[in-house]
Amino acid sequence: MTTILGIETSCDETAAAVVDNGTDVRSNVVASQIDLHQKYGGVVPEIASRAHIERLDSVIEEALGTADCKLDQIDAIAVTNRPGLVGALLIGVTAAKTLSWVTGPGAPGLVAVNHIEAHANSAAIGMPNGETPWPAVALIVSGGHTSLFRVDGPLSIELLGATTDDAAGEAFDKVAAILGLSYPGGPAIERVASTGDASKIDFPRTMLGRDSLDFSFSGIKTAVLYHVHGQGKTTGGLEKLSEQDIADIAASFQQAVIDVLVRKTMLAVAQSNVSSVVLGGGVAANGTLRRALEAACVERSLSFRAAEVQYCTDNAAMIAALGYHLHVEGRHADLDLDAFPTGAIA
Ligand code: KG4
Ligand code: ZN
Repeated sequence: MTTILGIETSCDETAAAVVDNGTDVRSNVVASQIDLHQKYGGVVPEIASRAHIERLDSVIEEALGTADCKLDQIDAIAVTNRPGLVGALLIGVTAAKTLSWVTGPGAPGLVAVNHIEAHANSAAIGMPNGETPWPAVALIVSGGHTSLFRVDGPLSIELLGATTDDAAGEAFDKVAAILGLSYPGGPAIERVASTGDASKIDFPRTMLGRDSLDFSFSGIKTAVLYHVHGQGKTTGGLEKLSEQDIADIAASFQQAVIDVLVRKTMLAVAQSNVSSVVLGGGVAANGTLRRALEAACVERSLSFRAAEVQYCTDNAAMIAALGYHLHVEGRHADLDLDAFPTGAIA
């Protein structure tokens, strides 16, 4: 058995997890900072870094305790070192390096994990008996990224397309703000949309050309803004809307984003000659998206696997899961490991 401690601090979740053999999750602790950032309507980097410092030690302790695991039983420490808020990443990277160093001879190996690659592998967590969903087209939709990958294995990931402007989650967050809903916007929009009529408003579905696997979500955000306030205006319209109007806008917006995500994923499948689709990232927690993508796969006899909801939004189980494969391949980092704000797979 190979046991990995995962550490994740790339944005506003302080997380640690213990995972065996890249798939059996023994603990998955996430301390969310939503309450700290809510009043600013988005993540404030300096506040995020400080909160990581305050919380990370106890989050790691809880992850080890819940897994009933001592540090000397850990084979490797996997830590997110890119992409993300660099100050936030540095807290996790420094903790991982320190833990590896203080353990002395026979210390657990140190493994650097790309956060997006970890999301891309997250649907494989918990699959039984060595089964995998690969090769697959992976749709990874989060607050910072919206990308399609061809994944032939946990360490074999090729970028097929990505957003050219806003990420899907960012569009959910911005549209929620326009509609006066709370941060983070994704769950708020999903909740309100459940009582709305998705066919009420025909928001644009930006496809960027027939064969393009890239995305653009800034146009729909502006379309919602003008729908709420009037063409060319950015304020003054929200008070005139009823609760039902807001629900209809939320549902119509959500459906337009989902239509684009599903169409592009099916296009990627057609171009990639694979018969498996996986879904991950924070927006993949959206039940309407999960059902729509599954239905499109069933219609085409494709296999479909969405990451379990607790492995969609940021977590350290996915970091430990991918870290396992890097550890087994001997791809270890040194104590001079650094953090980088960028690093999406090119
Ligand atoms: O993966 P994640 O936790 O962090 C990043 O790596 O960005 O994704 C966070 C994003 C936020 O934009 C949030 O609004 C969105 O995921 N999100 C959702 C839902 N839950 C979270 N979007 C739509 N529906 C949801 N249920
Ligand atoms: Zn993420």
